[in-house]
Amino acid sequence: MKHEHQDIIDELGTEHISVGVRKTGKIRKVVVDRDACIGAQSCVVVTPDLFQMDDENLAYVTDKDHNLMDDDMIRLSAESCPVLAIHLYDEDGNKIFPV
Ligand code: F3S
Repeated sequence: MKHEHQDIIDELGTEHISVGVRKTGKIRKVVVDRDACIGAQSCVVVTPDLFQMDDENLAYVTDKDHNLMDDDMIRLSAESCPVLAIHLYDEDGNKIFPV
């Protein structure tokens, strides 16, 4: 069975991802590469409604409604990750960050 986010899995080279999909805004897909995550938690500090830590101390995308979130805050959160484990995509599936 083909994974729902196979394109991102192919790109990142891992199935260990957590994905949030938005219906509005410049940023439409938020992806945590959980193989890259080192548990720095700055993403949780910047946007706690978007990211939380699991019991493995790895970030995941929460199941809250992310549609009303500010694009700039999401981007800031991704930029705050020291290992660039958070990837952002636009509505055409093009990567916005990191590039
Ligand atoms: Fe992990 Fe980066 Fe957040 S290391 S906990 S995704 S800031």
